[in-house]
Amino acid sequence: MSDPETIGLFEALYSTRALRRLKPDPIPEDVLFQLLDAAIRAPSGQNAQDWRFVIITDAAVITKLGSWAADGWSRYQPEFSEHPEKMNALPRTQRLSLRSVEYLAQHLHEAPAVILFCGRKGRHSSPGGSTFPAVQNLLLAARALGLGASIFNLPLTHAPELIEELGIPEDNQLYCLVPVGYPLDKHGSVRRKPVAKVAFWNRWGQAWDYAEQQPPEGLQEKWLSKGVADGPER
Ligand SMILES: Cc1cc2nc3c(=O)[nH]c(=O)nc-3n(C[C@H](O)[C@H](O)[C@H](O)COP(=O)(O)O)c2cc1C
Repeated sequence: MSDPETIGLFEALYSTRALRRLKPDPIPEDVLFQLLDAAIRAPSGQNAQDWRFVIITDAAVITKLGSWAADGWSRYQPEFSEHPEKMNALPRTQRLSLRSVEYLAQHLHEAPAVILFCGRKGRHSSPGGSTFPAVQNLLLAARALGLGASIFNLPLTHAPELIEELGIPEDNQLYCLVPVGYPLDKHGSVRRKPVAKVAFWNRWGQAWDYAEQQPPEGLQEKWLSKGVADGPER
């Protein structure tokens, strides 16, 4: 494994996008191990670490996931699935994002690896909270290793088949799928609502004056290197 890209924590936080267009090139196992070894550094309730991961590289299984994703896309976005040209009328950001979802729904079979995140049922009061920190660690580690990744749950429209296919025990819940691969697109600035719109000062609904005075894009410019600042197309 070549050394991970030297990228500061804040640059990674400000530029890790959901990259859904992936090359089919296989990911070396030492790189996959680094991803998982970073993921398990995450916090979990009582440090129970009840997360379990299935690293799917079997092309036959990934092909099945791909057909379930395509089915999920037509179920959840019937309008755009039947008339993809209707996406042209959407605002740019929404259009690009939806196009990349459509792309992955139709090309998931090309992904070299898909990681399934599971967690023990009934153990934690907010069970997802003990799994998703590991997901985010993995997404950031993928960013640093020059990989593209995203949470992609369309194949979970066929969860019972997936559980059967992979032999997931009954006491485990499926949380999400993360296809990983070398990306065709680049990381770049992520668009988010400003802090002032989502954070209150001491009491729900009370404005935070300091945040109100900050630019709506926050500190993006400070943390993005020139190469990613403009937010490339995906
Ligand atoms: C719990 C959760 C479920 C998600 N499910 C999907 C999904 O099924 N399909 C998908 O394309 N993206 C999914 N995403 C990814 C989000 O759409 C993505 O993170 C968001 O649009 C922001 O994208 P950006 O980071 O590139 O700006 C999911 C994210 C989370 C946290």
